[in-house]
Amino acid sequence: MNLDPRVIAALFAHAARSPSAHNTQPWVPRLAALEDEAHPTVIVTVAPDRCLPAGDPEHLDLHLALGCWIESFSIAAAGVGLVSDLVSIHGRGPHLELRLRIATEQDSGREADGQGVHPSAGGWPRFGVVDLHHRQVDRGPLMRDDPAFSAACTQINGALAESGLRLVTVPDSLWRPLLRQASLYMISRPQIFAESLDWCRLDKRDPRYLQDGLTAECLRLSPIVALPGARLNTPTLRPWIAKATAGAVLPLSVGRKFLAGKRTGRRRESVRIGAGGSARRRGSDITGDPGATAPHHVVLVSDGSAAGRFGENGRGDGGRSDTGLAGEPEPISREIDMGRNLLRTWLLFDRHGLRADVHSELKDCPETNQELRRFFDGRLAPVAAFSVGRSTTPVPRSHRRPG
Ligand SMILES: Cc1cc2nc3c(=O)[nH]c(=O)nc-3n(C[C@H](O)[C@H](O)[C@H](O)COP(=O)(O)O)c2cc1C
Repeated sequence: MNLDPRVIAALFAHAARSPSAHNTQPWVPRLAALEDEAHPTVIVTVAPDRCLPAGDPEHLDLHLALGCWIESFSIAAAGVGLVSDLVSIHGRGPHLELRLRIATEQDSGREADGQGVHPSAGGWPRFGVVDLHHRQVDRGPLMRDDPAFSAACTQINGALAESGLRLVTVPDSLWRPLLRQASLYMISRPQIFAESLDWCRLDKRDPRYLQDGLTAECLRLSPIVALPGARLNTPTLRPWIAKATAGAVLPLSVGRKFLAGKRTGRRRESVRIGAGGSARRRGSDITGDPGATAPHHVVLVSDGSAAGRFGENGRGDGGRSDTGLAGEPEPISREIDMGRNLLRTWLLFDRHGLRADVHSELKDCPETNQELRRFFDGRLAPVAAFSVGRSTTPVPRSHRRPG
C-alpha cells in the first residue's frame, strides 16, 4: 500500500484535537518505518512528562485520553477512505504502546465509514473531522436544554448498549455538594494542587501558552484573578502555595467528609420512603429533574459487563486500587475502549448543540466516587462526570502543541 506520509501527518493533526485531562496531550504517534508496505502501522506511545502522577496515579484519565485519540484518528482516517484497526495494546501508563494497522478499503475489504472501527461503534452517526474540530469543553455558564439532552441521551445510550457503559443523570441537589467536596479534596492535597497549577497557563508570555495546558481564557478566569495568579504560579512558589492552600482548606475538607456521611444516611432514608425513589435514585430517568434550570449532570458509568478486546495483554502490574464492578481492575484495553466511547459521547452531544463541562474530580476524590457508586446502587463505576448544556458565551479555543 502506497501511503503518503503527508496524509498521515494531516490525520495526526486532526487527532490532536482530542481532549485530555489538563490538556496534557500525552500521545506520541509515529508512522512505523514502511518496511511492511502492505500493512502500514501507526505506533502511539506516551510522553512520560505528560502524565499526571499526583492527580491520575492509576492512569485512568491517561488511558481514556489515549482512547479518545485512537477514535479521533480512526474518524479522520475514515474521512480519507482508510480503515484503521487497533491491533495491539502493550504496557500501561507511561509505558503504554498502541499499534494501529492502516489499510485502504480495498485491502481491508471493509468500508471506511467510521463505523465498526471498534466493537461497539455500531449505532453512532458517521462522524468526520468537522466534528473533531467543533467539539469543545465549555467551562462557562451552560443553559439547560431538555429536548436536545433527552434526544442525545437516547441516541447515546442506544449506541452504548453493547459496550457495558451508559449515561446516568445525577440530580443537581446531589451534584453540587459532591462537587464542592471533590474540589476541596483536590485543593487540600498539595501534590495534586501543585500539579494542576503546573498545567495552568495564566501568563501569555509563557512559551507554553499556545501549546498545551489550561489557559486563563479556557478556565474563564477574569484578568483580575489571572494576572496576580500568573505572578505567583512559578515553579519556585508553586509548592509553597499548594502547601499553604492545602493547610487552609484541609479542615473544610474534613468537615465536608463528615457532612457527606450524614448526607448519605439522609438520602438512604428518603429513598426508602418513596416507592418510585429507587428508579430516580439510580438516575434511570435520563431527563433528570423536570422543571429544573441547571444544566444536566451526567456520569458515564461502567457496569463491568464488557471485556476489552485485548484482555490477554491486560495491565502490567495489577497494582491498581480503582476497581470495576466486581472489584476487579478494568483491563487496559477496556479503558481504551471507554475513552473511544467517551469521545463519541461528547461528539454526539455536540451534534445536538450541547457542550460538556468535565469534572473528573468527582470520580478522583475517593469519598465522592464512593457516594456516586452508592447512588448507582453500588453496581456501576463512574468513568467520567460532566455537566451538559448549550453554550451561552463564545467558547475560547484550547491550544495544541505543534505536530
Ligand atoms: C479523561 C479526561 C478527563 C478530563 N477531566 C477534566 C476535568 O476534570 N476538568 C476539566 O475542566 N476538564 C477536563 N477534561 C477536559 C480537558 O481539560 C480538555 O479536553 C482540554 O483542556 C482540551 O480542551 P478541549 O477539549 O476544549 O479541546 C478532561 C478530558 C479528558 C479526556
